[in-house]
Amino acid sequence: MWGKKRAGAGKETPEAVLQAARAALAGLTDPVGGKALPESGLIDSLELVGDQIILALKATRDSATQMERLAREAEAALLACSGVGAARVVLTAHRAPGAKTPVPPPPAAPAGFAARHGTPGKRITLPGVKHIVAIASGKGGVGKSTTAVNLAVALARRGHAVGLLDADIYGPSLPTMLGRRERPAVVGERIQTVDVFGLAAMSMGFLVDADAAMVWRGPMVMGAIQQLLGQVDWGALDVLVVDMPPGTGDAQLTLAQTVTLAGAVIVSTPQDVALADARRGAAMFRKMGVPVLGLIENMSYYCCPECGARGDIFGHGGARLEAARLGVPFLGEVPLLRAVRAAADAGTPIVLAEPAGDAARAYGTLADALWQALAGRPNDAPATIADAESGTRAG
Ligand SMILES: Nc1ncnc2c1ncn2[C@@H]1O[C@H](COP(=O)(O)OP(=O)(O)OP(=O)(O)O)[C@@H](O)[C@H]1O
Ligand SMILES: [Mg+2]
Repeated sequence: MWGKKRAGAGKETPEAVLQAARAALAGLTDPVGGKALPESGLIDSLELVGDQIILALKATRDSATQMERLAREAEAALLACSGVGAARVVLTAHRAPGAKTPVPPPPAAPAGFAARHGTPGKRITLPGVKHIVAIASGKGGVGKSTTAVNLAVALARRGHAVGLLDADIYGPSLPTMLGRRERPAVVGERIQTVDVFGLAAMSMGFLVDADAAMVWRGPMVMGAIQQLLGQVDWGALDVLVVDMPPGTGDAQLTLAQTVTLAGAVIVSTPQDVALADARRGAAMFRKMGVPVLGLIENMSYYCCPECGARGDIFGHGGARLEAARLGVPFLGEVPLLRAVRAAADAGTPIVLAEPAGDAARAYGTLADALWQALAGRPNDAPATIADAESGTRAG
């Protein structure tokens, strides 16, 4: 639940509100290390969205009980700040200090994002990343990005260390959906992830202007995806969630040829046309030797926000049947809710904006199902760096 108070005058600048918030947090103490909270290293992120403030605190399993108490205190302290209408504190999986070690750059990695034009790809190992999961669909606009973001946050809230890669070079969604636009830091030759809502995130939208991203061509897309994987300091992650562009093209091929994917999750809406595309998407991944971890039905049913009545706008249950037909798990369904869209547009995933709501519950179920599918996989070990077969397509 969000801590809420009556709407205030709200005239403060965002900088002033954040400054007041930091000052308020200075009055709290790290229950483990004994330092004032801002100096403790426990603050993962502090975000202001409108008059809503979201604090992410790093917690380990051992410190969870003490951290929950601290989270309640922090929420009360933030709520007391002038200009804050609602406050939410989330506990995120703590990456052990130093765990974010640089990984060696991929062999023969290109120097610039536009440098490659159809040269054979290299396989890349991300030594600290246990599972890489592609969120895909055959058809555009079915909710891959929304699913990827909320699934990633839901997994992080369950204590897993989670990364989120936006592999949609033409139309990156993460800057909007995560409410972040800043340029990532570069340390040595490694691009640092943007750490937000407890996720390690990266998107081409953080690196280039949206207009520049529009003119990219096939081979450049391949090079860009390889760089986003190989030259970003992903650190130690339980799972890297990859938001794919729509379709069955270069991006999917490049991803599957560059890293060892734990599998693909196919998102579909319930209509027959979308399901036909989902089938094509699943077939493509299987052809590339990538396991299909399951299907998700998005916009599965409609809940009227006024009366709570339920309706099946696009039909319902098609993805479950399709999953059975394909012999893959059905991971769950997400309702069509105005709040899901509004939260995505406002830059706070619905899982955080309304953590007790229907959508958050649905994404939580999906996160559990996906984790179960991953845990059931026999091989957690990362592959070694090896030359890929020279089959990366020239565009
Ligand atoms: N369950 C939902 N309820 C309401 N709106 C949703 C839901 N899922 C997604 N949307 C909205 O539908 C639109 C498309 O979603 P999204 O961008 O996630 O799709 P996508 O499959 O990633 O699209 P693309 O193929 O262009 O990458 C967005 O405006 C998003 O907010
Ligand atoms: Mg998308």
